[in-house]
Parts: sequence; C-alpha cells; structure tokens
Amino acid sequence: MILLTGGCGYLGSHCAVELLNNGYEIIIIDNFSNSDKNIHKHIEYIAKKKVKLIECDIRDRKKLDDIFFNNKIESVFHFAGLKSISDSFNKPKDYYSVNIIGTAVLLELMVKYCVSKIIFSSSATIYSDYSKLPWHEKIELKIPESPYAQSKVIIEKLLKNFSLNHNFLKVAILRYFNPVGAHHSGLIGENSTNSTNLFPEIIKYLNNEIPHINIYGNNFDTHDGYGVRDYIHVSDLINGHIEALNFILKHNKTYNYDVWNLGSGKGRSVLEIINAFEKKLNRKLKYVIKPRRKGDLGQYWADINKAKRELGWDPKKTLNEIVEDSLMNLKE
Ligand SMILES: NC(=O)c1ccc[n+]([C@@H]2O[C@H](COP(=O)([O-])OP(=O)(O)OC[C@H]3O[C@@H](n4cnc5c(N)ncnc54)[C@H](O)[C@@H]3O)[C@@H](O)[C@H]2O)c1
Repeated sequence: MILLTGGCGYLGSHCAVELLNNGYEIIIIDNFSNSDKNIHKHIEYIAKKKVKLIECDIRDRKKLDDIFFNNKIESVFHFAGLKSISDSFNKPKDYYSVNIIGTAVLLELMVKYCVSKIIFSSSATIYSDYSKLPWHEKIELKIPESPYAQSKVIIEKLLKNFSLNHNFLKVAILRYFNPVGAHHSGLIGENSTNSTNLFPEIIKYLNNEIPHINIYGNNFDTHDGYGVRDYIHVSDLINGHIEALNFILKHNKTYNYDVWNLGSGKGRSVLEIINAFEKKLNRKLKYVIKPRRKGDLGQYWADINKAKRELGWDPKKTLNEIVEDSLMNLKE
C-alpha cells in the first residue's frame, strides 16, 4: 500500500488517480489546509475505486503512528507541505514547521515501521541563485533566500542523512519546475483561491473572479522582458513519479538515494503563455503589470536529461494541450 501525504492537494490528487489506474492500493492523509474533502470523492469518481482517506496533520506523531501501525504501508509519496515562495517570507515559522518538522516526523515513523521507499516533492527553487542555464542536478546547493526554498534544501539533506543512516531506506527526490494544467475531467486541479501563480491567476480572471491578470514584472533580463519558466503538464510530472517508483523497484537491491529534475526542458515567458491562451480562446486577455515579487527570478528551465536517461521518462504534452487542459478548470 502507498501512503500519499497531501493526497487531496493539486499534485497529490493527480498522483492518487494515476496510482489507482496503475493498480496500486493507496491511503491518503491530508489536513485540508489547502484542499477540500470533496477532492477525495472526485478521485474515487475518476478512478472508479474506493480510497481510504484520513484527516491528519503530518506533524501529529501519535495519529500518524496509528496510521502506520494499522496499515501495511510499503511506500510514501510525500506531497504534504506549504508551497508559496512569497507567503513563506510572511510566515517562515509555518514553513519550517510544516515542511521540515512534518517530514522529520514522517521519516522517524518510516524507520520505526521499516517502510522503505519515499518519493519526495522538491522544487527547482532550491537552485535559486544559480545563473547558468539550464539547471541540472549536479549544481551545488546553497541556502536560498526564501524560507520555502530553504525548507526544501533542508529536507533534501535530511532525506540524504536518513538514507545514509538506514540502509533499507530508498529515497527518490523529484525537483519540480512549474507544474500546470489539470486532469481532463476538470474535477481535480490547482486550488486557485490563494495562489498568485500565473495559471491559477488566468483561470480566476476567466472565471470573472478578478478584473485582470496580475503580472509581476516585465523588466526582467529575458528575451521579451517577462519572466521565463519551465511549465510542465501535471500528467507528465506525475508519470515521472510512477517511473521513479518503477526505477526503485527494479534496482531494489542496490538503490539508496537519487535526485531527478522534472520539467519540460523548455523556457516560456509569461507573455508567451498569455498569447497561447488568447489564441486558444480567440480573445484578448486583460493584464496589469505589477512590481516584481520578492524572490522571483528572471528566468530558469530544467535540464531533464538525467530523468530521460535513467527513468526512461519523457514529457509529452504540448503547450496547446497544457492550455486546453487548464481550461477544464473553468467554472460553467
Ligand atoms: N505546485 C507547484 O507549483 C509545486 C512546485 C514545486 C514543488 N511543489 C511541491 O509539491 C508538493 C505538492 O504541491 P501542490 O501543488 O500539490 O500543493 P497543494 O497545496 O495543492 O497540496 C498540498 C496538500 O498538502 C496538505 N497539507 C499541507 N500541510 C499539511 C500538513 N501539515 N499535514 C497534512 N497535510 C498537509 C494540503 O491541505 C494540500 O492538500 C508540495 O510539497 C510543494 O512544495 C509544488
């Protein structure tokens, strides 16, 4: 059985569906700080399978211990965490507590119950002050500026130490670039309410929830002045998780710890994304340029050759498909 922490969130819910479609039995834990209990029903509806869901904060050692004690968990997909760079400057303690302490509690219990495999959601933000592109896994990590990215660097170090100290533990770290898009059913997607990221912002505007799209900076040192990011379709990203699990299972005897970037390998500017939506919708979108946000970089994209070579993974979705699937999250 696979335990999904944060399994009702944006990425966790897509992963839950994909694991169920691949025949895995799963159990989801979530504290619903950034998700809705209804997502559980949507996961069951899409996958046409029953799923065990337990409301639990990953820092609640006692409750989590009971979950490990009562379920035959073999692997953990660890999505639970707080995820906004800008928010993390306002609430650093929350980010350290949920992300770092929560992961430490989880690892402690994995060791106690001899649960051997963990796939962890890391982030490209950990490369933050590295200017040479594309970003690859061998870049030496420094302590980044944002408490969010700091928490990811510390967790990666924690995972490495645990894997060195416990031979049976197998750790796969996946460094996501910018996951976007949604399941084509439109029933699961990114909870847009408290996100200022570009895609949720576009969807909120198209749902008439905001008067215009906010764009943070158009004076970056990039080809058109707008921020450039590596957008990856959520289904490609989640396939990377299945491939990482397959890789661990295949190399079970020798595998201990590794890190892979998951991105599209292409940089696209905010303006290019706006233009892609305008082309698909055949109308102009209204946007307003705001000052840059603290911690935002001009441009970055991933070197994905390691994941391609070692995991046999290859992102397939085009920008057009990303835009089409994102529009599935529009309200009627
Ligand atoms: N979405 C992105 O752009 C992105 C990029 C890089 C890395 N990541 C990482 O991927 C992971 C998942 O991201 P997401 O986009 O699905 O975020 P999300 O906020 O949609 O999902 C996270 C889930 O974890 C739950 N959660 C939060 N704190 C918890 C706690 N203490 N105990 C139990 N559950 C808790 C939330 O309620 C939510 O359901 C996060 O660790 C995030 O940092 C996301």
